[in-house]
Amino acid sequence: MTMKIRFVPEMPSQGALIVPVLQDGLAGAAVKAVDAKAGGAVLRGAKAAGFTGKSGQSLTIPGPDGLAEAVIVLMGLGKADTFSVPDAVKLGGKAFAAINGKYDHGALVLTDVTLGELSGADLAVPVAMGARLRSYTFDQYRVKTADKEKILMEGFALVTDAGDAASATFAQEDAVAGGVTVARDLVSEPPNILHPESFAERCQALESLGCTVTVLDEAKMAELGMGSLLGVGQGSVRESRLVAMEWKGGKPGDKPVAFIGKGVTFDTGGISLKPGAGMEDMKFDMGGAAAVTGAMHALAARKAKANVVGLIGLVENMPDGNAQRPSDIVTSMSGQTIEVLNTDAEGRLVLADVLTYAQKTYSPAVMVDLATLTGAIIVALAYEYGGMFTTDDALADALSVAGTQSGEELWRMPLGKAHDEMIKSDIADMKNIGGRDGGSSSAAAFLARFVEGDTPWAHLDIAGTAWTKKDQDHCPKGATGYGVRLLDQFIRNGYEG
Ligand code: BES
Ligand code: MN
Ligand code: ZN
Repeated sequence: MTMKIRFVPEMPSQGALIVPVLQDGLAGAAVKAVDAKAGGAVLRGAKAAGFTGKSGQSLTIPGPDGLAEAVIVLMGLGKADTFSVPDAVKLGGKAFAAINGKYDHGALVLTDVTLGELSGADLAVPVAMGARLRSYTFDQYRVKTADKEKILMEGFALVTDAGDAASATFAQEDAVAGGVTVARDLVSEPPNILHPESFAERCQALESLGCTVTVLDEAKMAELGMGSLLGVGQGSVRESRLVAMEWKGGKPGDKPVAFIGKGVTFDTGGISLKPGAGMEDMKFDMGGAAAVTGAMHALAARKAKANVVGLIGLVENMPDGNAQRPSDIVTSMSGQTIEVLNTDAEGRLVLADVLTYAQKTYSPAVMVDLATLTGAIIVALAYEYGGMFTTDDALADALSVAGTQSGEELWRMPLGKAHDEMIKSDIADMKNIGGRDGGSSSAAAFLARFVEGDTPWAHLDIAGTAWTKKDQDHCPKGATGYGVRLLDQFIRNGYEG
């Protein structure tokens, strides 16, 4: 279900009308305009209730005839002198959430509102994006329609003088929001429905947007020598897949950017079985692949002027009689051998072969992989930042900037010689675990061994950010779609130019 979002010049006469108020900002033009229409009720109400616009403060007053017949809501923003685009996205989400489910229609007044340096369409568009992102629902498994109907309000409007400019820009943003929805849907799907084969089928939908989609089955991957990826999937009755999604919006002949995603549709740990409590979380172990698929959707839907290829390794990590054992040695497509000492360190085994395939097939200008790779990154960073590993400072900077601009932030983590030492094996070229200490860095060091020559490469560990247990301003609890807006911004900044 998608909610209608519109830009309108006039304050609506029905539903809930939200007015953002800076701290001690009751004299602002927007508040004054609403107050005038409400016959002075807004400022009288604010005074009586002690509302001054402090952050988190809100005041609901009855709407007068002819204006927001339901309610007027004053929303305190605090001191917002440094107000960025991600703040505007959050504001839109918060405003939407404050009234969603209670009223059929809602509107947020942005006429004559300036926050930090943002006003007009520059403010209205990210605010609309926030409302769009927060209004996400995943409800196809709630079959009782009565429950469904209450979830989403019918329409949300931004009251602004800059409606024409905002509508034009928002079309681009809405394409990106569509990509976030694709990623969230994939992550939300239960693993009995979304397994490697059905995931690959969904990727094929990108062809209708102009992408070329290639799906490798197990026979093809065996032919290519992908023993590392295939070893992970061999304990599952589901066949593994590798999907490549190409978008060629740039100059012919320009080397593509490659985005690579871990797509473990369910991670039981394999024979190194995970404990039962919390195992259900491991349906989101394909969050990297979902982010890459969503990003490809976004780029194709907004017709990005860049060449980009998304590659995802899709497997299910299960323990059965054919499953790989701790101490098995597998040969990767790169020719390097790996001693599998823990079958639960499977993501790196999958990515190893996808990295090799990406380089051999596309000679990419740069590679960025996304993976819910380690629990250790959650210990280090919690849920606000993705962990970034790269030895390329320029790439680190470009990704950090894209992270800050998109609000999908990254924190750079160490990746050094010492971490590579940790994965030395006694009997093979490497082992797939480096011990508990610095677990996210030794996982990155493992991946680094599959990067050939001087191809710039970064690894983003998104184990802490792919899923949220609590509602966030711009994201209801559940799948976040983290990575889609980050990757889209990375392409906008560096490759469309
Ligand atoms: N998918 C997990 C990592 C994970 C854990 C993601 C928690 C999200 C939340 C990964 O495959 C895994 O099991 N990693 C192990 C690695 C260890 C065996 C070296 C881990 O983090 O414990
Ligand atoms: Mn695992
Ligand atoms: Zn995993």
